[in-house]
Amino acid sequence: MAVYPQRIADLIDTMADVEPRGKSVSGRSASFECGCFVEIELSFDGNICIDGRLRTNGCGYVIATSQVLISSLRGVDTKALKGFDGDEIIAKIESQIGRLDDRRNCAEICIAALHRAFEAHRADLVAEYAGESALICTCFGVDEAAIIASINENGIPTIDKVSASLMAGRGCGSCRGLVEEIIDTVR
Ligand code: FES
Repeated sequence: MAVYPQRIADLIDTMADVEPRGKSVSGRSASFECGCFVEIELSFDGNICIDGRLRTNGCGYVIATSQVLISSLRGVDTKALKGFDGDEIIAKIESQIGRLDDRRNCAEICIAALHRAFEAHRADLVAEYAGESALICTCFGVDEAAIIASINENGIPTIDKVSASLMAGRGCGSCRGLVEEIIDTVR
């Protein structure tokens, strides 16, 4: 008797421990509930994700979800990720492996690991930046001075208003916390 549905079993078979091409960053996440860890390594050319690799001791749902997400990122510019959160990602996963229902936590661990990898990629780009004002959103090249100017121009500051005017936070999403900190400071 098969342990996992066929679509998930097929994705488990695609897991290979092959080093991603190019310079890479890693993101990790773990679940105290089931004891599994997920490490996802991504390589980039600028903001284009070239490749990815998964390491985990997790179940088939964790492996299948990660494989779906990694393959959906290959060749994609982080600008196109729309914040990389919410039901849209879960819908993408479910369209390939079926409904997650009580396995949603398995997907959330993988998404969290990818968020950490995006944060590490952002930190790499910030370290290389030589502009006068601190670079905040590496997906859209938005610096702190532009965010402060936008907050002052738009009246009541909210992350949605800043994102609407500058796009900051609407790519990989890893700058959103920093944008919120700037808003709190200006407020
Ligand atoms: S750094 Fe990716 S959305 Fe801002």
